[in-house]
Amino acid sequence: MKDKRETAQKASRDYYSHLAYYMDLLVQRQRREEKGKKRELDFLESAFRIHAAHPVKEVLDVACGNGPHVVGLAQRGYHCTGVDYTPERIQIAKARAEREGVSVKLLQGDATKLEYNNEFDAVLALYLLFLLPDDESILRCLRRIHQALKPGGVLVCNIGNPFYKGKSWWSLPTILHGSSTLRLNARGMKYMSVDRVQDYDPIHGVAWWEEVSVVEAPDGVHVFRDRERLRLLTYWDMMNYLGAAGFKDIKCYPDWQIKPPKKPKGEFLVFVARKD
Ligand SMILES: C[S@@+](CC[C@H](N)C(=O)[O-])C[C@H]1O[C@@H](n2cnc3c(N)ncnc32)[C@H](O)[C@@H]1O
Repeated sequence: MKDKRETAQKASRDYYSHLAYYMDLLVQRQRREEKGKKRELDFLESAFRIHAAHPVKEVLDVACGNGPHVVGLAQRGYHCTGVDYTPERIQIAKARAEREGVSVKLLQGDATKLEYNNEFDAVLALYLLFLLPDDESILRCLRRIHQALKPGGVLVCNIGNPFYKGKSWWSLPTILHGSSTLRLNARGMKYMSVDRVQDYDPIHGVAWWEEVSVVEAPDGVHVFRDRERLRLLTYWDMMNYLGAAGFKDIKCYPDWQIKPPKKPKGEFLVFVARKD
């Protein structure tokens, strides 16, 4: 069991380390990404206002990656700390904070081993939970986050919704079709990745992907080959995990929309939950 968990974590860490630099460069050169980030940051601020019992000042971003949220919130005046277990990503987040002229505490650390007590008004765990290897890791991570929050503080976390009807690498139509291709263009850069499902366990809802990415960057052409493992978490899984970790007043907002339309597409499910 432990071996399986470690293999899954290593694959995920490799994936996020060697692509980190090029993905960050791409994002810096892409306007579309900027727009998406603004929408998510606006959502986070509204969620803090609506759900936290006290004004939010101290924010922890668990699995902060290259820092889009932790640096973005620091630019909006929050006191931010970011933790990620991939050292390359922490380095890039540090460079991003410096570039934007904000001070952010950035540390390497494991989401399942956080050691904070009643310190934060809000904690983020974005695009993370489906990467954790099993129930035990997800619960451990959510319990540690609960412990890190002050009473009245809020957690914002999200998943890709497997029941989304469109094309996303976590959606059942894509997984059953067996492959997906992504092309991104930015100033002076091109990125293409082909993802193929290598294996799919329909009982436990786990898919193993092989991703081949080709990056045409200013320093040449690079090819990366990775394996990634994805747990297909659903709305009900999340409600159960969050409840079991001690969270109250759990609310789901589809597609980062604080006022969901009548028929949301449900590509992403964003959960906001409070510690009493
Ligand atoms: C899809 S990225 C999301 C990054 C960031 N939250 C965002 O929204 O851009 C997933 C991140 O989770 C990190 N990660 C995966 N497992 C982790 C763990 N157990 N502890 C801390 N970070 C982890 C990876 O290094 C990667 O940076």
